[in-house]
Amino acid sequence: MDKISRFLKAVNSKTLSKQALIEALEQLSKNLPLNSKDCDSELLSEIVNKLRPLFLESSCLNHAFSKPFGYAGDYYCMYLIHINRPSGNGLGGLFDRVFLESKTCQSVRERSNIFSNSLRDLEIANDRQLNVLIAGCGPCFELANYFKKSNNLKLPSFTCVDHDLSAIEFSKDQLISISSDNKLRYFCSNIFKFSNNGEKYDFIYSAGLFDYLRDSLFKKLLSRLLNQLNKGGMMVIGNLSNKIPMIDSFTMEYILDWKIQRRGREVLKKLVTNADDYDIDTVEDCLEVGNYLIIRKMNN
Ligand SMILES: C[S@@+](CC[C@H](N)C(=O)[O-])C[C@H]1O[C@@H](n2cnc3c(N)ncnc32)[C@H](O)[C@@H]1O
Repeated sequence: MDKISRFLKAVNSKTLSKQALIEALEQLSKNLPLNSKDCDSELLSEIVNKLRPLFLESSCLNHAFSKPFGYAGDYYCMYLIHINRPSGNGLGGLFDRVFLESKTCQSVRERSNIFSNSLRDLEIANDRQLNVLIAGCGPCFELANYFKKSNNLKLPSFTCVDHDLSAIEFSKDQLISISSDNKLRYFCSNIFKFSNNGEKYDFIYSAGLFDYLRDSLFKKLLSRLLNQLNKGGMMVIGNLSNKIPMIDSFTMEYILDWKIQRRGREVLKKLVTNADDYDIDTVEDCLEVGNYLIIRKMNN
């Protein structure tokens, strides 16, 4: 029996469980090329025509595939991943659960800890109000979690930038009840062009934006943001790693047409130009799926 028929047989079983679906997905995606463009065209069209409609019974996967805002990984898709509330019954409900519980979605949810912990380290080292820039803020979930946990009396001042006005409006609505003071500013702007009158920041954070940039644009944006980093400041850039499990890559690449640049830690380091001017480190999250490039600008 071929891959497709075997998968269809498994998902059509009346007693399909979450674990059985994961195993069927593992069998299906095994030995496929990472990028769908390298897949045999006949197999790819079978996947698209026969399997994609089944996956799209999941409301979360359906949103991710249909890209109502015109691009993959929009703020609402990220919001659905962060809040992690699988919905629906039957096959759609199962696909929703399997996707939202995948290592990649767990890694997205881990961004809140990375954001809060890195910012807290900088707060401890600096006894003054910090100035923070969030590039490609999406639904501002990391920031909302920081506010929920922080007991810092000298709360930083935050500048949130996203090129999507709906992301900005959504974030304002989400954060209004959590942070009632005026230390939050929002800009609907392309981050490649963003500058607030030459303002500089002590902490610059971006996760889930550089993953969409080819190396030349990655470098260009990184240098631009490094110019906006204060001396003694820290930048944290999240990029999904090349260790993403194949079933997650399969769902994103083949089913959702959601293409990203997976980057290993050494690759991330090499994308920093003028590296000698900075203290550069990388960390991976506890899922080993999210990599972070950490750049500190020296004080002298
Ligand atoms: C995948 S989301 C991640 C957001 C957030 N870190 C999270 O995990 O929820 C990336 C965001 O970057 C924004 N974005 C992408 N390219 C951008 C650009 N050139 N300028 C500003 N925002 C951008 C998108 O609109 C999206 O909201």
